[in-house]
Parts: sequence; structure tokens; C-alpha cells
Amino acid sequence: MKILIIHGPNLHLLGKRKTGIYGKATLALLNSGIKERAAGLGMKVRIFQSNSEGGIIDLLTANAAWADALVINPAAYTHYSYAIRDAIEALEIPAVEVHLTDISKREAFRKISVIKPVCRAQFKGGGHRSYFEALEFCASLKR
Ligand code: DQA
Repeated sequence: MKILIIHGPNLHLLGKRKTGIYGKATLALLNSGIKERAAGLGMKVRIFQSNSEGGIIDLLTANAAWADALVINPAAYTHYSYAIRDAIEALEIPAVEVHLTDISKREAFRKISVIKPVCRAQFKGGGHRSYFEALEFCASLKR
């Protein structure tokens, strides 16, 4: 199974940004954990990070034909990007939303996900585990 993984804006700052909330692990460390877990599930992954809405949509357009499923952490775009929502809805592959933190327990503006309705599942609040759970969910789709 081929999984497209997209990290949204500011996730390149993991390890430096609000470590009390997001932890001290860098994006590189998260990505190596994702690769290891994906390999264990017999999956191939393409992993990208983008700080722009158009950049994320272009990544979806360029890689969706390759992928069997999408795992996306849209970061702050989660809460208001109808453009990314529409781009995911247009895909022919299933999408899974992930968040490091539990967005339902943070500021009011984070409680809303405009992405959730176009995703098969949402995993949140588990740190790196949220991504691993999303990979396992993708694996279960194939069975
Ligand atoms: C996040 C939660 C978002 O509200 C925030 O803007 C992020 C990260 C998470 O992974 O917990 O950048 O998506």
C-alpha cells in the first residue's frame, strides 16, 4: 500500500515550537518513526511538509495518482481551509486526518475541523502515535 503523508504549516518547527504542547521531537524524528512503522506494515510512503495552502493542494494533485491513501495533518488550515477541504474531497483515494494534539480540548477555534467531513477518520491527541494509528487505519482499509 502506498501512503501519501502531508504535514501542514509550521510543522517544520517541531522540536522548537511550543515544546510544552507539541513536544521536543523534530519533524525529522517524526518522519523516521512514520517510515519505520510504515515499513512494518509493508507500506511505501511519500512524506511532504508545506507551509502554504496552494503548496498542499499542489502536493495532493501531484501525488494522489501514486497513492492508495492520504494521511494529512493540515495544521492550522484544519480550522478554516475550504480550499484544502475541497481538494481532499476531489481525491479518489481515502483520506485520514491527524493531529499531534487533541484539538477538541484546546482553544475554541481549534475545535472546528472543516477537513473532518471529507476524511474517513480523525486521529488526534496521541503525538506521534496519532500518525501511527492513521497508518494502521489505512492498512485496515485494504483488508
Ligand atoms: C495541529 C493542531 C492545529 O490546531 C495547529 O494549528 C497545528 C498542529 C496538531 O497537530 O495538533 O499546527 O494540527
